[in-house]
Amino acid sequence: MVATANSLVTAICTDLQLWTLLLLAAVTSLFLADFLKNRRPKNYPPGPWRLPFVGNLLQLDLDKSHLVMQQFVKKYGNIISMDIGNIHSVIITGLPLIKEVFTHMEQKFLKRPITPIRERVFNNNGLIMSNGQTWREQRRFALMTLRNFGLGKKSLEQCIREEAQHLVEAIAEEGGQPFDPQFNINSAVSNVICSLTFGERFAYEDEQFQELLRLLDEATCLEASMICQLYNVFPSIFKYLPGPHQRVFRNWGRLRLFVSHMMDSHRKDWNPIEPRDFIDAFLTEMTKYPDKTTSFNEENLICSTLDLFFAGTETTSHTLRWALLYMALYPEVQEKVQAEIDEVIGQKRQPSTDDRESMPYSNAVIHEVQRMGNIVPLNVPREVTTDITLAGFHLPKGTMILTNLTALHRDPKVWATPDTFNPKHFLENGQFKKRESFLPFSMGKRACLGEQLARSELFIFFTALMQQFTFKPPINEKLSTKFRMGLTLSPVSHRICAVPRQRCWRRNEKEEKEGHAL
Ligand code: HEM
Ligand SMILES: *[C@@H]1O[C@H](CO)[C@@H](O)[C@H](O)[C@H]1NC(C)=O
Repeated sequence: MVATANSLVTAICTDLQLWTLLLLAAVTSLFLADFLKNRRPKNYPPGPWRLPFVGNLLQLDLDKSHLVMQQFVKKYGNIISMDIGNIHSVIITGLPLIKEVFTHMEQKFLKRPITPIRERVFNNNGLIMSNGQTWREQRRFALMTLRNFGLGKKSLEQCIREEAQHLVEAIAEEGGQPFDPQFNINSAVSNVICSLTFGERFAYEDEQFQELLRLLDEATCLEASMICQLYNVFPSIFKYLPGPHQRVFRNWGRLRLFVSHMMDSHRKDWNPIEPRDFIDAFLTEMTKYPDKTTSFNEENLICSTLDLFFAGTETTSHTLRWALLYMALYPEVQEKVQAEIDEVIGQKRQPSTDDRESMPYSNAVIHEVQRMGNIVPLNVPREVTTDITLAGFHLPKGTMILTNLTALHRDPKVWATPDTFNPKHFLENGQFKKRESFLPFSMGKRACLGEQLARSELFIFFTALMQQFTFKPPINEKLSTKFRMGLTLSPVSHRICAVPRQRCWRRNEKEEKEGHAL
């Protein structure tokens, strides 16, 4: 009896040992496989020590990842390697190297790396995350449509000016009391894209419209979170786990559904001779290639529309919120902007982009807002398409490339007061001065497709608001320039007061006309 028990114990023990051994062997080989897979090629750029599987992911405190890295750059130089999960990435610092990458070497950097999240949502379609033929066709078409928009209908500029009027009215309704500007500004900016893509704008209170904006904001904010980074490293596991990352997919799903309904309703009253908007123009393009050898299909219609929505809403609206915040923090700058507006535009008409030339100060202020706001700190990632040598280092095909725009926009060798808001950075003898180290829209063939549109929006919205209001911190509340990390940096949620300056120009015009009539 005792003997049997004994041998049972021995058996279990040997069994356990066997299991332990097997487990150990399995784990070791996993680590070994990971190590071999992630072995640095010769002459690979230096970088901080990485953990198996997650790489440097945990070193990147995501809330302020772009600040934590400073010490690494000091230690390793202008081109450093990091593994974000299993993605091999290289971060490039400094104008000379960035220019090299985006000019004569750009052909090798035109690709976007695809994260598992993006792959599942967009399946390599659309504008921002597509590559190859799809990207070339979609980008050319979107640029052309943006340029031609206005044939037979309102121009984009007119759209922006009308929307600025709605925005001024909505903000006037706050009556100078503290309010969170996010709602109004986000709605106004998004409406410009809605006019372009859907041919209609929405009332700011429209529930469906607000739901759309909320879904977008939540999806992009969540996508920058740690759990989503982990999804990107272990998609096959996280796919089955509950958590906030599932909301990303749900939200994009609902956004897609909305665009697909829009597409269906456009089809019903579509007149190929008179395209009303981006969707109409896309439908026309689809009929041109019935053999389906191009990317002009429903899937790309939906994805490109969503990309315009996504890239065109958050970026510009965050920048405008930074602008108002800086004006409230720097009242003397705000006064100068208003003085310039009063002199060049006056109170009787609405600003237009033609005024920009004669308004160097306001133009400089908008540039300085973009420099300080720095909303895309590490640019949008690119990927190396063949093995190359950069600055003496070997970058294998497939390496992800990030360019440090923060370093450029805060370079103490270039900017007189790198960390302080100062419009003089863009002025010389009272004239507007372009700066090379200013690349908020990036550069090259894959640079921001909406730069012209964004610049028009920023100028018209900003000057229209400065013409009508003075922005101030609420009494007894302190405004800060703290930011929220999402796919783009935005000011943390805050309240501000918009104190009306003079009577609205539209009322003035009306009174003048009535005056003439009398
Ligand atoms: C202040 C506003 C904006 C900023 C700071 C900004 C910034 C950027 C940056 C840094 C990129 C990456 C470029 C690269 O990879 O080199 C980009 C790409 C892009 N932007 Fe913007 N953007 C803004 C507004 C807009 C607007 C209004 C639109 C809508 C029309 C837009 C559409 C796009 C698209 C479609 C891409 C992808 C281009 C491609 O991959 O070929 N952006 N943007
Ligand atoms: C980018 O540059 C800034 C400013 O020099 C620095 O603080 C930051 O750590 C850098 N980020 C990365 C990821 O290299």
